[in-house]
Order: sequence, then C-alpha cells, then structure tokens
Amino acid sequence: MNVTAVLLAAGQGTRMKSALPKVLHPLAGKPMLWHVLQAMQHVSNDKPMVVVGHGADQVEAFVGDSARCVLQNPQLGTGHAVMQVAPHLNGKTDYVLVTYADMPLLQGEVFQQLVERQKKNPGPLTLLTVIAEDSRGFGRIVRKPDGTVGAIVEEFVASPEQLQIKELNVGAYCFSADWLWEALERIEMSPKGEYYLTDTIELAVNEGLPVQALVHEDLLETIGINTRVHLAEAEAAMRQRLNRELMLAGVTLQDPAATYIDAGVKIGRDTRILPNTHIEGNTVISEGCVIGPGSHIRDSQVGYGCKVFMSIMEGALLEEEVEIGPFARLRRGAHLARGVHMGNFGEVKESHLGQGVKMGHFSYIGNATIGANTNIGAGTITCNYDGEQKHPTEIGEQVFIGSDTMLVAPLKIGKGARTGAGSVVTKDVPEDSLAVGMPARVIRKLRKRDSS
Ligand code: UD1
Ligand code: CA
Repeated sequence: MNVTAVLLAAGQGTRMKSALPKVLHPLAGKPMLWHVLQAMQHVSNDKPMVVVGHGADQVEAFVGDSARCVLQNPQLGTGHAVMQVAPHLNGKTDYVLVTYADMPLLQGEVFQQLVERQKKNPGPLTLLTVIAEDSRGFGRIVRKPDGTVGAIVEEFVASPEQLQIKELNVGAYCFSADWLWEALERIEMSPKGEYYLTDTIELAVNEGLPVQALVHEDLLETIGINTRVHLAEAEAAMRQRLNRELMLAGVTLQDPAATYIDAGVKIGRDTRILPNTHIEGNTVISEGCVIGPGSHIRDSQVGYGCKVFMSIMEGALLEEEVEIGPFARLRRGAHLARGVHMGNFGEVKESHLGQGVKMGHFSYIGNATIGANTNIGAGTITCNYDGEQKHPTEIGEQVFIGSDTMLVAPLKIGKGARTGAGSVVTKDVPEDSLAVGMPARVIRKLRKRDSS
C-alpha cells in the first residue's frame, strides 16, 4: 500500500506580519518546512508534495528536489489546497497524509501511527487530535455518542457550548485516497469564500462512514505557529527537545535553557557546552571538548579535546587539542592544526596554522600559511591587502615573529627566521636569519635554530 504526504504551505501567514513566507521562518536554525519534511521521511519513500502559493518562488527554491511543489493560486483554504494535488496523485497512491507546514514539532512516529490507524479503519479518514486547556484557536472536535468523530467546528463559528470542548484538531489527517478525491469535489464554499479540508469529516459522517481520531499525548508536539508568539514557544520546545537528545547521547549542557544548538549540529560525547553558547549550521564538534561560555560557532568543525572559550568561529576548522580564546575570531577558511594555541583578540581568515603554533595576543593573520611550532608575537599583522588585491604570506616552521611585526604581503619568511619587535617586513627573509627595522633588513645569520 502506497502512502503519499501532502504538506500545505501556501497560506499567507498574515498573522506573522512578515515579508518572509511563514513556513520559511526558522526554528532551531532551519525553516519550519524543513522540520516537517524531515518528519515525512518516516512516513513514506514517495517524495512529499508541497502546496505552495504565497511566496511560492522562495518556498520552491528552498524545497529544491526534496519534494514536488504544486501551485495554489489564489489560496482559497485548506480544502482548496488539497484539490490542487488531486490531478497529480489521483490513481497513483492508496493513502494521502495531509498536514499543515505550520505544525513543525510533530515527529515522524506520530504520522506513522496515524497511517497505521487509518489502514485499519473501515472509514475514509483518521485525524490527529489533542486534549488541551488552551485552545490556541484550533478547531473543536465534536464526538458522536459512539465515540467516533462527528465534526470539526472552527473556533469562529463555534457555539458557546462547543467552545468548551477541550479536544482540538491538530491538523494532520490520513485519507483513503479514492474517497478523498471524490469528497473534495463536494466541499461547499464557506461564507468567507474558502473551502475547508475539515468539512470532509462531515461528508464522511453524512455517508455513515466512521471517522477515527488518534489522540496525541504530547502537547508540545502540537504547537502550531500562527503568530510570532507561537514561534517563540515552538522555538523553546524544539530547543528543549534537541538539547535533551544531546544530553541523552552523552553531551553535558551546564545550563540547557541558555544553550542554543541548531537542528542538524553534531556533538561528540563528553563534550561540555557552557552557557550562552550558540552552535549553528553545519557544525560538527568532536568528543571531549569544552565549548563556551559565550561562544558562537557556525558551519565549523572542531576536533577532539579542543577548548573554545568566549570565541567566535565561522567556516573554520580546528584539529585536535586546539585552544582558542578568550575573544578569538576565526573566519572562513581558518584551519588550526593540532595543538595550536590562540589567545585573546586574535583574528584568522583563510589561513593554515601548523601544529603547535602559538599566537597569544592581538594579531591578524589572513591569507597565510604558518609552519609548525612558529611563534606569532603580540600585535603581529599580515598586511594582506594592498587596497586592490589580497596577497599571501608564507611563514616557515619554528619562526619567531617579534611583537608588533607588520608582514607586508606577498612575503616569505624562511624556516627558523626571526623578526625584531616593531619591524615592518617588506622583503622575503631567508631561513635562519634575523631581520629588524623599518623597512626591515637582514642583519645577521642566526647560529642555532632553536636558540632564543
Ligand atoms: C487550521 C484548521 C483548524 C486546526 C488548525 C490546527 C482548517 C479550516 N482549519 O486552522 O481546524 O485546528 O489548522 O493547525 O483547516 N494553507 C494553504 N492554502 C490555503 C490556506 C492555508 O496551503 O488556501 C496552509 C497554510 O499555509 C498553513 C495550513 O494550510 O500551513 C493551515 O492554514 P491556517 O490558515 O494556518 O489554518 P488555521 O487557522 O491554523
Ligand atoms: Ca495554522
């Protein structure tokens, strides 16, 4: 039996008061729609169908080839949205799982349960409900005396008695496909000029066919997003879920409520994340690290046993046992090899720092390669930009760059060389030589590479 998921994502999201389509608003760093598409992977191998309308170009660009998009224009309600997929799916699938893309906390398991329940239902549909004190504007479920569902009544048309009903329509339905296509044609236009998917329930009931409900126990999963207040509630719930998964997998979060880790980030066991730390995008952190407090890491990789103390990383790579911070900033293409130490107020961009390099204080390194065990003195600057172009700096192994050296690129500093404090180096310095002054001149050959 074939199941196809249909996600409704065409609505304007008026209540968000946003230029961005509602379903693209991020939750734990990923658009709402991403979370729903993730959950759908548990349901079926068929590519889901996404009904797009408002902001269709943006939504389609995000969806790419992860799903098939169908345009709904104009947007005349949730029933009308499902009508748009009928020509594409009619005769091609046995069950249709419909859900709203503004319900991003629902997980794969519950959708699976919904499908399983419908497979056993002699009637044409099963829907997901929840019992909650706060109605959040959801439709009310009216049960018949035999316990099956009689109708869904939208809040704005409900009677005072119906408003008291605590069982709510979550917005996920599994339909027997053949019945659905035919029923959609019978939905009547509402006084507002819309076609409601929820009216299919009454159509089934009027035919004497049983409508089943699966009552969901987890209130947090049923948070729907209509306003930015809901968005913040969903964000908190999603982060709580992701943080919990990390902790159960062996990551210490000293204060989970003050730890912001995006969906999709990977962190190894025995790593400790200290408060006010943000870890975002495509980041992978290995085992045994200490990250934070107060660090911000995006699209980066951190090897075993690193310490990232009050620092910022974006598009950077740390090998094992690297220590950075406080107040280090690693930008795109910064690659620090094993055992590098980078102290306060340093910035590294598009550069490779070899094993054991020390760069303790106030330096800028850009477009450079630095050999193993080299020492970068306080205040060293690679002057990599001449106003038009970036130029490279190559520094060999075991070099000692004196404090406040200006390295005017392009430039090569040979293995074992030294520069004097305050020198402005404009020409290459040969191996094992000492250069000083402004502009720097080589004044003598050094005797022994390791001498200090
Ligand atoms: C809907 C349900 C309500 C349920 C609630 C829970 C209907 C009539 N009402 O109300 O019973 O309790 O969800 O989540 O279904 N959309 C389209 N095309 C349209 C209109 C909407 O694709 O023409 C999409 C929206 O992008 C959204 C979803 O359908 O993702 C739901 O629409 P929304 O307007 O948020 O419905 P609710 O008022 O929340
Ligand atoms: Ca909604």
